Amino acid sequence: MIRAAITGVTSYVPKKVMTNFDLEKLVDTNDEWIVSRTGIRERHIAAEGEASSDMSVQAVEKLLKETGTKAEDIDAIIVATVTPDMLFPSTAALIQNKIGATKAWGYDLSGACSGFLFALKSGSSLVQTGHKKVIVVGVDTMSSILDYTDRNTCILFGDGAGAVLLEPTEDENYGIIDELLFVDGSGADALNMKAGGSRKPATHETVDAREHFIYQDGRSVFKRASMDMAQVSADILEKNGFTAEDVGIFIPHQANKRIIDVAARKAGFKDEQVLLNIDKYGNTTAATLPLGLDEVVREKRIKDGDLVLFAAFGAGYTWGSILLRYGPGKKG
Ligand code: UT7
Repeated sequence: MIRAAITGVTSYVPKKVMTNFDLEKLVDTNDEWIVSRTGIRERHIAAEGEASSDMSVQAVEKLLKETGTKAEDIDAIIVATVTPDMLFPSTAALIQNKIGATKAWGYDLSGACSGFLFALKSGSSLVQTGHKKVIVVGVDTMSSILDYTDRNTCILFGDGAGAVLLEPTEDENYGIIDELLFVDGSGADALNMKAGGSRKPATHETVDAREHFIYQDGRSVFKRASMDMAQVSADILEKNGFTAEDVGIFIPHQANKRIIDVAARKAGFKDEQVLLNIDKYGNTTAATLPLGLDEVVREKRIKDGDLVLFAAFGAGYTWGSILLRYGPGKKG
């Protein structure tokens, strides 16, 4: 059976750093509250005019260079994002043009914080049906939809992009082994952006009502995220006959350190098996998982053949996990 292997990973965050102390000057909050309730100390914020496709291109060009891949050899580009440059055309199309991937097709998908998992599954299916080189991007410019007068949300998010290259491997031990992916749309009211779509097109009234910003009922999302991320992480291991001890690194979505702690504890991981970088980046939505993978690869916290477990939970609700064996394996 042909499997999709991750044969390269890169990421990009904008230069500008916004600390908790910077936020103290904007809203009624403080560093102690933010660190103790979320684990976040700072986040990166896009420069004026820097959009999701710009951040993605930074990550993708590095990916092409590091993997020795020619842009014209890319078959498809899939972009997970809730903050595309525009509603249309897709961010994938903009990236395709900017990097000169003349042969590639592609599309965006909206899975919020689980978006990278959904895109990875889509990319993996393309590889299994004949595509040879697929780029999967997770990117979000959350600062473009944050209300910096709302302390409930503006302290949580940051901007960033991550990209992986997927290629076929016939080595049955390598690549994406399994996925468990879910949607429960009854959660739509708890986390959303109300205006700017077909339900409420932009008007002066929607702008005045601050409906082009992210809304979140934090407590409801917190409860579901803690429960479902823990469950799905345990379930995918059991389904595939593994235990937490078999996993090299657990890369959970970085929304709140307390959610990660619950999920890691319930699934049975030791601290050293868990990627935690929320302190530096905050919640970058679709970018947290590739940012995490890039970090553990660069820091040599994983080696060829290690099991990697991704898990995420986000707006929709959406959630899920993907289990893979890291490294190229034998190319098909
Ligand atoms: O990635 C997508 C999925 N999203 C998530 O997974 C996020 C899930 N939710 C969370 O991470 C947490 O619910 C938050 C971090 C958003 C909030 O933490 P919490 O422990 O659930 O706090 P809370 O909303 O219950 O608020 C507790 C108190 C409230 O004051 P009162 O009503 O007790 O007087 C808030 O008004 O903290 C207050 N508060 C703040 N205080 C200082 C809320 N935001 C802030 C703030 N600074 N930034």
